[in-house]
Amino acid sequence: ENIPLELHKVRIVQKLHLVPIERRLEALYEGGFNTFRLSTKDVFLDMLTDSGTNAMSDNQLAAMMQGDDAYAGSQSFYRLEKAVQDVLGKKYLLPVHQGRAAENIIALAYVKKGSLVPMNYHFTTAMAHITDKGGQIVELLYDEAYVVNSDHPFKGNMNIEKLEEVIKRHSAANIPFIRMEASTNLIGGQPFSVQNLRDVRAIADKYGIRIVLDCSLLGENAYLVLKREEEFKNSDMATVLKTMTGLADLCYFSARKISSSRGGGMCTDRLEIMKELEALVPLYEGFLTYGGISVREIEAMAVGLYETLDETMICQSPNFIKYLVDSLYAKGVPMIKPAGVLGAHVDAMQVCAHIPQTEYPAGALAAALFLISGIRGMERGSISNQRDEEGNETYADMELLRLAVPRRVFTLSQIKYVEDRMHWLYDNRELIGGLRFVYEPPVLRFFMGGLEPT
Ligand code: F0G
Repeated sequence: ENIPLELHKVRIVQKLHLVPIERRLEALYEGGFNTFRLSTKDVFLDMLTDSGTNAMSDNQLAAMMQGDDAYAGSQSFYRLEKAVQDVLGKKYLLPVHQGRAAENIIALAYVKKGSLVPMNYHFTTAMAHITDKGGQIVELLYDEAYVVNSDHPFKGNMNIEKLEEVIKRHSAANIPFIRMEASTNLIGGQPFSVQNLRDVRAIADKYGIRIVLDCSLLGENAYLVLKREEEFKNSDMATVLKTMTGLADLCYFSARKISSSRGGGMCTDRLEIMKELEALVPLYEGFLTYGGISVREIEAMAVGLYETLDETMICQSPNFIKYLVDSLYAKGVPMIKPAGVLGAHVDAMQVCAHIPQTEYPAGALAAALFLISGIRGMERGSISNQRDEEGNETYADMELLRLAVPRRVFTLSQIKYVEDRMHWLYDNRELIGGLRFVYEPPVLRFFMGGLEPT
């Protein structure tokens, strides 16, 4: 058996509660069958997300004690700026309170009505900020990205031919930037290759378009490049990370993901880009040396960025995910393959083949798994999609139940519990029924929306 090994020891623990199934059913009704609206007192294993839930290290917690509280010129900021220069290789850093704040500022600076932003695939908040400013997005993955049972190592690659076609059709003047997302979240945490990013760079240079790289899951993407891309098999994290960021004009990240802390940032080597974004930071986030983040979190972020260089840390989540994906797949459960990063992704389209997309199979599966196990996953399907300009539903390409495996949080026996419960649910899948909205917020409806069984 290919057992993943914890390369750390547990020194602080938090008690979990496994409440009776009757209470979980009540909690589902109280929370509108939406796992975002559950309270952690009812949740046993919280696999909603890795965002802000990765375990922090002893060194991160120690560093938090030296946070330098100052409105302007805090030493904590300079330590973070140095970490960004050392790890991401970019000279200028603009801090923001989290990843979507960077998306807001970048869209404010560059997107206007009629803009088109090509991307390998959308992320919910990135898309919402672009459409909010009157822009549109176009997704340019290769067809194999949508194949559930695949062995393609880089399903997050951007389709280069389509990219050039789109630029020719819409004209480079209407394309403020190309967005590349590391470890493409919504198709199952799937990486792109360095070679693909180089190819995107060549097209971007040919037409004079900026590349914006979403680095929120860059560490894991780099780790999978080391494992899967021939050219880098004897390389190291530091080289791969800098090679990738070096190909982008502007990088941004959610520190909640990349460094297990809070906050986020935008970084670039290009002075004119820095100047275009700089003015918006004090307006929306806070002064330029804190950007809405507490100095303690800034210290943790700096240490967390350096820890991203450590393969014994960064391998933890992907290795546990691989174990979970491969063992569920061996039991017949349809899983997104190959295993990616962030979490294991169950193909709800197949598990709930009896539930039409109009009744949200992935949302239904998320609710059912919580009911029978106390495991909280996240719907990543049509509920997470936004309606089009005319208000029509846009059905997701993939209906996924994401079971996040935050770094260094769960033990192998907990992962085995997930495997056991998900397997049971698969064998009893005809018990799962569809959902319909009873309360649908106009923006990012998946967060607070309420549903009920059909
Ligand atoms: N980009 C990616 C690829 C993300 O996964 C996220 C957040 C963001 C940007 C936004 O960052 O949350 O700090 O504002 N992903 C979380 C998730 C929410 O659960 O996948 P944020």
